[in-house]
Amino acid sequence: MTERTLVLVKPDGVQRLLTGRIIARYEERGLKIVGLKLVHVDRALAERHYAVHKGKPFFEGLVAFITSAPLVALALEGPDAIAFVRTMNGATRPTEAAPGTIRGDLAVEMSQNLVHASDSPESAATELAIWFRADELLSYGREIDRWVLGPQAG
Ligand code: CMP
Repeated sequence: MTERTLVLVKPDGVQRLLTGRIIARYEERGLKIVGLKLVHVDRALAERHYAVHKGKPFFEGLVAFITSAPLVALALEGPDAIAFVRTMNGATRPTEAAPGTIRGDLAVEMSQNLVHASDSPESAATELAIWFRADELLSYGREIDRWVLGPQAG
């Protein structure tokens, strides 16, 4: 089933200049960017995003980290995108992430694990609404087919 999911390239990914490489991995697997922005997150947005972790010992660290520098928020669309992106990202703890995953190839630290992705259809709906207004999420087909193949491309 075609789904949309929220992905963050966290401040460590942006600071390490890995944004393009990370986004390329998703595109190379056929996931389509339907929303994209660079954001320097304020505390209110950080608390909304990490609301489920409020009260946990690492909550303040999470908020401090995600507000420390800009991040890139992405809405990705594709077949089973929610689970697919989680598989591509690898285990939350980078030392347990399989080689070939984003964290397994590029990250070491739990607190600096490069990417966030929605973990369920419910969290995808909630998180997409936190990060993007409805009019910032675009739907489009393969317009390039029309340019390459002409009108018969449909
Ligand atoms: P993320 O996918 O952004 O969602 C919550 C984040 O909390 C997670 O990635 C980790 O970076 C972080 N996290 C989860 N568990 C712990 C923990 N036990 N200690 C520190 N950070 C954690």
